[in-house]
Amino acid sequence: MSTTAIFWDKIAEKYSKKPVPDEQVYQKKLQITREYFRPDMEILEFGCGTGSTAIAHAPYVKHIHATDISSKMIEIAQSKADAQDINNITFEQSSIDTLTLADESLDVVLGLNILHLLENKEEIIAKVQRTLKADGVFITSTACLGDSMKFFKIIAPIGKFFGVLPILKVFTTQQLEESIRNAGFSIDYQWRLEKSHSIFIVAKKR
Ligand SMILES: C[S@@+](CC[C@H](N)C(=O)[O-])C[C@H]1O[C@@H](n2cnc3c(N)ncnc32)[C@H](O)[C@@H]1O
Repeated sequence: MSTTAIFWDKIAEKYSKKPVPDEQVYQKKLQITREYFRPDMEILEFGCGTGSTAIAHAPYVKHIHATDISSKMIEIAQSKADAQDINNITFEQSSIDTLTLADESLDVVLGLNILHLLENKEEIIAKVQRTLKADGVFITSTACLGDSMKFFKIIAPIGKFFGVLPILKVFTTQQLEESIRNAGFSIDYQWRLEKSHSIFIVAKKR
């Protein structure tokens, strides 16, 4: 098992009990996302964690493929969906790096609070672009630590070495926007969250 999967497995139980930091902000993100949904749509959410967002969106689309590298996260997500009788989500334990996806098969891809946790965000954004249908949409909420917390560049590798931090990549909002545009997207909507280093972006396949 990869060290990334081990890290997230260890904190899955605790993560599932943690309330969202700001309910109003979370609800607004759900709302904006749903403006891009139609009932016949096929969605992928990678890095779905314990499934709360996929479960919240399930009534608005045809099907959600929700994946996460951590089998513990997926276990919790599946049991939450079962408890709520949600049956249009397929949960799968898989790293986004190795997940096989058919080209031009998806309407919307969600990557929420995950791009800064990947070794290779450019490759993954390109993979998302390939897998989206024409006019498909990629929605991401991403911590851009390079805007105000550059010191993480030093702390992150040390924390990872001691197993107290996951992979943590430090980049700015501008660098993230460039990565998204360079992969063949245009940015349709952007929201910088107040008092937060996170940026919420809706990008359309060009
Ligand atoms: C900060 S949590 C975010 C979870 C959820 N998207 C949310 O917004 O609450 C990051 C999630 O990404 C998963 N993850 C980390 N690296 C991954 C990878 N390479 N492929 C797929 N999932 C990954 C972790 O297991 C964890 O569940």
